Amino acid sequence: MTTVSHVLNETRFVSEELRGRVLDAIEELNYQPSGVARSLRRKRTHTIGMIIPDNTNPFFAEVARGIEDASFEMGYNVILCNSDGNLEKEMDYLGLLIEKRVDGLVFVSAGSNPAAIEMLSTQKIAGVIVDREILGLAMDSVLTDNKRGGYQATRYLLDLGHRRIACITGPSQLTPSAERVTGYRNALQEAGIPVDENLILAGDFQSQSGYQGMRTLLRLSPPPTAVFVCNDLMAIGALCAAHEVGLHVPQQLSIVGFDDIALASFTTPRLTTIAQPKYEMGLMAAEMLVERIKNKDLPPRRRLLDTELIIRDSCAILQREE
Ligand code: RIB
Repeated sequence: MTTVSHVLNETRFVSEELRGRVLDAIEELNYQPSGVARSLRRKRTHTIGMIIPDNTNPFFAEVARGIEDASFEMGYNVILCNSDGNLEKEMDYLGLLIEKRVDGLVFVSAGSNPAAIEMLSTQKIAGVIVDREILGLAMDSVLTDNKRGGYQATRYLLDLGHRRIACITGPSQLTPSAERVTGYRNALQEAGIPVDENLILAGDFQSQSGYQGMRTLLRLSPPPTAVFVCNDLMAIGALCAAHEVGLHVPQQLSIVGFDDIALASFTTPRLTTIAQPKYEMGLMAAEMLVERIKNKDLPPRRRLLDTELIIRDSCAILQREE
């Protein structure tokens, strides 16, 4: 270590005379300690990288907030990267974060990406997978029980007497959406109701696809009396479509969403939804990552968090035809 560093960090005795000369020089040169030099010496940047697929979606914003709050408390800076759901952009950011020698990264994948699995496996970087499980990658993970959440939503609608229950899914290649649809199918099967594939429409987790999906469903004859929508942004689009054709929610149509983003409490009517522990997922991921940074030999850990049905005003008991 240099004398300047010993003076700044008080890591070794320096005579008063020499200390005074160094401090005078620092003041005269307006010296700023170099983070890069410090990082190279310590082989630590105290920086965590985070890659999320869509920073405009409040779900990821709340997860990112948990990661950032926990990281700050533990003395780590965070570099947030938005892959836009694009696999190439995801790879660019992975390469950038590795080049910047982040101490570890929290990764929400944009979808199945063998090149990313290859890079993460060979680079041996400390990492935590959040929300979208990546099979074949020996990394810690923080996930939600999406199958149970899809079952909860559908079971709730069945208990209200609905039998013609539709589903607007997220991107089918993403595990959270596929698992929610499995939960939907399981609940119908358990109730002895055959699954009508015409009632399952593909969305993309954005509001527009929820709007379009609902317009299509409402043109069916007979239309569904209830819809499970696989995330809140699409459910908000679906609500808009129902209002637009003069349908009253929940008197004429029940809607359940998924995520419980803050907006779900302010729609008209307020959205009944399946809550994910978003902020807690972020906190847990950051804490697990710092533990991994400090001890790379820990066995891989998989945390599966529960969902919760949040009943608000967008569902009602099935109204029998007069
Ligand atoms: O709303 C975005 C969706 O993508 C969430 O349901 C989350 O689980 C992520 O997979």
